[in-house]
Amino acid sequence: MRRKITVVGAGNVGTTAAQLIAEKGLADVLLIDVIEGMPQGKALDIQEACPIWRSAVKVTGTNDFGDTKYSDIVVVTAGLARKPGMSRDDLLHANAKITRDVSGAIAKTSPEAIVIVVTNPMDAMAYLTRKITTFPHRRVIGMGGVLDSARMRSFIVEELDIPLQDVQAMVLGSHGDLMVPLPRFTTVNGRCITEVLPESKIKIIIERTRNAGAEIVSLLKTGSAYFAPAASVVEMIENILGYKNDIIPCSVYLNGEYGVKGVYSGVPVRLSLQGVEEIVELELTEDEKQTFTASAKAVRELIEKIVLKKG
Ligand code: LAC
Repeated sequence: MRRKITVVGAGNVGTTAAQLIAEKGLADVLLIDVIEGMPQGKALDIQEACPIWRSAVKVTGTNDFGDTKYSDIVVVTAGLARKPGMSRDDLLHANAKITRDVSGAIAKTSPEAIVIVVTNPMDAMAYLTRKITTFPHRRVIGMGGVLDSARMRSFIVEELDIPLQDVQAMVLGSHGDLMVPLPRFTTVNGRCITEVLPESKIKIIIERTRNAGAEIVSLLKTGSAYFAPAASVVEMIENILGYKNDIIPCSVYLNGEYGVKGVYSGVPVRLSLQGVEEIVELELTEDEKQTFTASAKAVRELIEKIVLKKG
């Protein structure tokens, strides 16, 4: 039987994710949004592209959460996007309200699902989703590190003008201004980036990576990035469904790993149909640890603003 993936929010990220899932034939897709007709229209349009893609999946749209029942994976993209000048954290209260409603509905309709959280500020929203659904921690996972690492990779490729497959990059920590790009774990043809590029260039790449979401917001003016975020969601789905078995950075609940307890933050993980299969603990230097801890602390502060300290 084909798997069922619900995408909550038929905005740019949600619709592009639905399109990629359908185009790759990964699962049946249900697109849900509160705006009447919109998810139905977009789903129908994607469905009509499926014959051209030779994809046999079913794509539908709905405004009724009841239709999402028994989804294997639910991708949550619902919420406001940033406007120029805003940080992801500025969306906290508005998106927490939406996340609460959506999480409550998911818990009722798809109690066995794996939830991928995209809504910003993502690490805090992943924590909130886990708390409201009461799902096991391993079944609520945030999308951030795949995107941030892909951005860093693309900037390195641009700088060195070399084939993409030669470059690996690793960005951990929160998907926010304090994210933790790790040059020591970023390689070009297996060589550490610190041996390939001068420190000044690496600094520029790190800063651009940290600001990459904002760079796109400031260019678009009316919304935020969606092609790379949607591709990152689909990368996670392919790992969950077993089409891939990579170690990828995702935001997960930390219970002492990396010296952090009780928050969501980006770390390298292996995913499966059970959710988080394994958290990979890299040996960090003192400096890297400090940057990671500061990033987790910022997430904790956001969490404390939207939920009681316990939990
Ligand atoms: C970005 C959004 C998805 O980084 O957070 O573009």
